[in-house]
Amino acid sequence: MIYITRRETFCAAHRMCREEWSDEKNLEIFGKCSNPAWHGHNYVLSVTVRGEIQEELGFFINLTILKKIIHERIIEKIDHRNINTEVDFMKGKIATTENLAIAIWNELKPAISEHGASLHCVRISETENNTIEFYG
Ligand code: NI
Repeated sequence: MIYITRRETFCAAHRMCREEWSDEKNLEIFGKCSNPAWHGHNYVLSVTVRGEIQEELGFFINLTILKKIIHERIIEKIDHRNINTEVDFMKGKIATTENLAIAIWNELKPAISEHGASLHCVRISETENNTIEFYG
């Protein structure tokens, strides 16, 4: 089994909050990321897929195809957008990096399977110090 990771970056705004809570309670629970006036992060998304090498090709998934899948399904929808209000696959979810990783997994998995590979891990760094990994 071989694993390949494709790295992408995007910038997006978000606010972590429960709308029914006061700003004070949101600040207490979610911290600075609950700022009612929004803020953004430079996110780093790493998508790891696995598969068996096809002998006649020497690879299992064309990296151009993997890049295209990630761009069409994720980057074009989220880059320079507001995660809470503009990203269809995050509708109704609290805009945490954890929820984002799960949503991105669900968006990518079928398309990657169609190309004979398996999605292994979606990893998102919200800052240099905080990284979330989801393995399905
Ligand atoms: Ni934040």
